[in-house]
Amino acid sequence: MCGIVGYIGKRQASPILLDGLRRLEYRGYDSAGMALNSGGSLQILRRAGRIENLRQLVAEVQPLSDTGISHTRWATHGAPTDENAHPHRDQSGNLALVHNGVIENYITLRDGLKAEGHTFTSETDTEVLAHLVGYYYDLSDEKDAALRLSSAVQRALSRVKGTYGIAVMHVDAPDVIVGARLGSPLVVGLGEGEHFLASDVSAIVAHTRDVIYLNDYDMVTLRRDGFEVKSLEGGSAQVQVSHVDFDVAEAEKGDFPHYMLKEIYEQPASLRNAMRGRLSREEATAVLGGLQMTPRELRDVERIIFSGCGTAYHAGMVGEYLMESLARIPTEVEIASEFRYRNVPTDKNTLQFVISQSGETIDTLAALREAKRKGLRVLGLVNNVASTIARETDGGIYIHAGPEIGVAATKSFTSQVAVLTLLSLLFGRIRHLSTTDGLEMIDELEALPDKITSILNQTDHIREIAKKYAHVEGMLFLGRQANYPVAMEGALKMKEISYIYASGHPSAELKHGIIALVKPELPSVFIAPDDAVFDKNVSNIEEVKARKGPVIAVTTEGQTKLERIADDVIYIPSCPSILSPLLTVIPLQLLAYHLAVERGCDVDKPRNLAKSVTVE
Ligand code: AGP
Repeated sequence: MCGIVGYIGKRQASPILLDGLRRLEYRGYDSAGMALNSGGSLQILRRAGRIENLRQLVAEVQPLSDTGISHTRWATHGAPTDENAHPHRDQSGNLALVHNGVIENYITLRDGLKAEGHTFTSETDTEVLAHLVGYYYDLSDEKDAALRLSSAVQRALSRVKGTYGIAVMHVDAPDVIVGARLGSPLVVGLGEGEHFLASDVSAIVAHTRDVIYLNDYDMVTLRRDGFEVKSLEGGSAQVQVSHVDFDVAEAEKGDFPHYMLKEIYEQPASLRNAMRGRLSREEATAVLGGLQMTPRELRDVERIIFSGCGTAYHAGMVGEYLMESLARIPTEVEIASEFRYRNVPTDKNTLQFVISQSGETIDTLAALREAKRKGLRVLGLVNNVASTIARETDGGIYIHAGPEIGVAATKSFTSQVAVLTLLSLLFGRIRHLSTTDGLEMIDELEALPDKITSILNQTDHIREIAKKYAHVEGMLFLGRQANYPVAMEGALKMKEISYIYASGHPSAELKHGIIALVKPELPSVFIAPDDAVFDKNVSNIEEVKARKGPVIAVTTEGQTKLERIADDVIYIPSCPSILSPLLTVIPLQLLAYHLAVERGCDVDKPRNLAKSVTVE
């Protein structure tokens, strides 16, 4: 979960690298650095902390070079210090390398290099990789420096266990940058007399929309006027130029103080985009061409597995309720990092979905590969087009949420749930749902964006509630049925950005131990829409109140019973219970956001986190 940007061309490299890093900062922000190759010298500038610290250093030094690599870090090995910041040099000091990933056998490799007299200045696995490449570079008698560098990279990576996305330069080869990837994304940008390398397209789309998404084991040699991609496993690599449809403005904050708030407010639009062109009134069903499955194949599905991490997992939990309720298909949800190591019995009629906003989460990618190894058809629910997961699935459904920059997932959750609803409608309508059922569902889905808008209009009310609880050290989130996953999601948002310890539970679990925690200093957030289990939730709320626990309740407009019981009430418009997660989550997103702001937390870049977890 680091960000890499490389540039070789006809312009000054440092401004291009800094702007690219700024767009990748959501991937990691513990430290940042760049290496510039010019006139027989390799200049390295790096600083702990945010990219702004690096920008100030670059402004002081004013390096001149048209070739450079850069990196913004999420620390895996070694604290976020200047010494541990990338780029790292090899033993000679003539080679610079940046890396996204984890070298699992770095200690063994480091011991071997130490035995050869190498000395290290950092605690990182990346410095070991730089030394290993430099070791093979110095060992080679190849006269052509570019060839010498690429073969040194190839030899070094053949000894590596783990994951990498790297960019490497050598002072003797000022006309090339070498990149390679295994498990961490890397994309090549194609320009006129200039070429780019980046962890994702957002870093380079301002300069080119023609890109090549490298595959695992690809190695690229970039020059000003061309590039060459080969496979580290030997032979030629599959090179496909894609044209990126990415609106840079979409990835800007605009008038919002934080990306997270912008993305919360984008949800009426992102929900419309998730459903656009996918609802057929004529057939009273959803139309999802990306599944690439015939009606017969769809009908043969007898079991569904959803897997993902974090918020994506919570969306899958809602999907389980949706699929069982609308399609009556046995469905289970697995945390991807657990699924990949379990030996889940499956058969040819089991259909697996992997859910991922970034499409790069390594545990979800591993779950995908494990399911495919077992012969399952695996489909993706992904936001990031052409991401690794999207490219390795057998098909899938893009959620079309647009760039989500805030580390805390918001619009991607509601778009994932919306797409899961369409999926459940589609499966339901080829089984037992009637035309009337289908049309009613379509009406309710199309009404949701405006209902979300009405909730967003309550942001001042929710901010006032947040202020009351800004000092608390803990918070419970409770819900039933499809709002149990919403309780989990609300707790995750609260943890992630306000650093308040929070946990989500089924409301009825209170009496099985959790109620022991209830006290005046511990607020409970109940997601209690006016549905078949509303009265059960009311009983739970009474139990908490009887023990002087403060209660914040989310319930349906017109249901005023909670006014006299709860300390604070947030109302949402009515909708079918199975669709209520798309509404009940909005107040929880805003509550977490306002609490985090009240507590002075860094909403878009919470401590210790990054947007995409590409390391295990
Ligand atoms: C959610 O707010 C977090 N950012 C995190 O749990 C995230 O949902 C998880 O890492 C999965 O990411 P993905 O959807 O990109 O795979």
